Amino acid sequence: MSLPTRRAAAFAPSNIALTKYWGKRDARLNLPLAPSVSVALAELGSLTIVQPDADLAEDVMVVDDQPLDDAGMVKVRRVLDQVRQRSGSRWFAGLRSVNTVPPARGLASSASAFAALATAAAEAYGLALTPAELSALARSGSGSASRSTAGGFALWHKGERDDGSDSFAEQVFAPEHWPLRVLVARVEAGRKAVSSTRGMALADTSAPFFRAWIEQCDRDVPACLDALAHKHMRSLAEVVEGNALAMHATMLAGRPPLVYWQPATVGVIHTVRQLRAEGAECCFTIDAGSSVVVLVEPQDARPVADALAAVDGIEEVIQTRIGAGARLLSSGEA
Ligand code: DP6
Repeated sequence: MSLPTRRAAAFAPSNIALTKYWGKRDARLNLPLAPSVSVALAELGSLTIVQPDADLAEDVMVVDDQPLDDAGMVKVRRVLDQVRQRSGSRWFAGLRSVNTVPPARGLASSASAFAALATAAAEAYGLALTPAELSALARSGSGSASRSTAGGFALWHKGERDDGSDSFAEQVFAPEHWPLRVLVARVEAGRKAVSSTRGMALADTSAPFFRAWIEQCDRDVPACLDALAHKHMRSLAEVVEGNALAMHATMLAGRPPLVYWQPATVGVIHTVRQLRAEGAECCFTIDAGSSVVVLVEPQDARPVADALAAVDGIEEVIQTRIGAGARLLSSGEA
């Protein structure tokens, strides 16, 4: 006998790492080698509906009106199987998801996707999870999703246990703590050839200073949290920019080397450094893609956004704020 199930919908935001997750101690469970810190993006994310259905012979998922590919379904099933196991239900589910994040352009759409999936699936199968359990469930789909359930300024504890139960994220500061603006300078690079999953595995096995990178992350996390606590942009810039560039250094030094950047990516790096030298309170970070994310104090947001838009090769500058974590939506909202 299966337990009662129901349709559930959830929204989860994308998140941008301030210090990166780039290296796993367990690839199956997405357990990281180092902790990481992130900010959630207010309205950029994923909306997902989960409908358990006794008549389905397997899970089926449609993302942005396209059936999800096999590789994606493997990860989705990983999350749903855990939910079914805990709930005692054997029902498969029909899932629909809509992204407000451009996929595979370095904006980590998988983070919001798996955070929304975990949140909606737990509700649909009647599970009452703690925030830590929900974060760990999302993590098993995609590591960075652990930080999207938490929202605001989040810290993902790397954890020590083999089963990953202590590897979850929690909110360390609410979005209002430091109401920075987030600017996404979008650089077109086509669909990226190498996923984050593959990129970090390549760096781990072939970048000569990979262990030094992980040690750097261990030092950067407390420094980042300290800069956030004091709302000190200059200190934040040193850690966040240094961490992102060091992560990309592991890609550039891997075999084969991974160069995610386009000329406009480098153009934005120089522009942000120049703007800061002229007094603007801002800093940049870059994920495994060509787009650049800039954090900026509200009073400087407009001139900084204008300067980024003027960089050669910038498609658009998306402006957003730091937002809350994953949440259930009423059926009316879905
Ligand atoms: C560069 O979370 O997408 O965005 O766990 O293999 O799904 P998997 O990787 P994923 O990696 C994100 C990498 C990053 C840095 C970060 O978000 O911390």
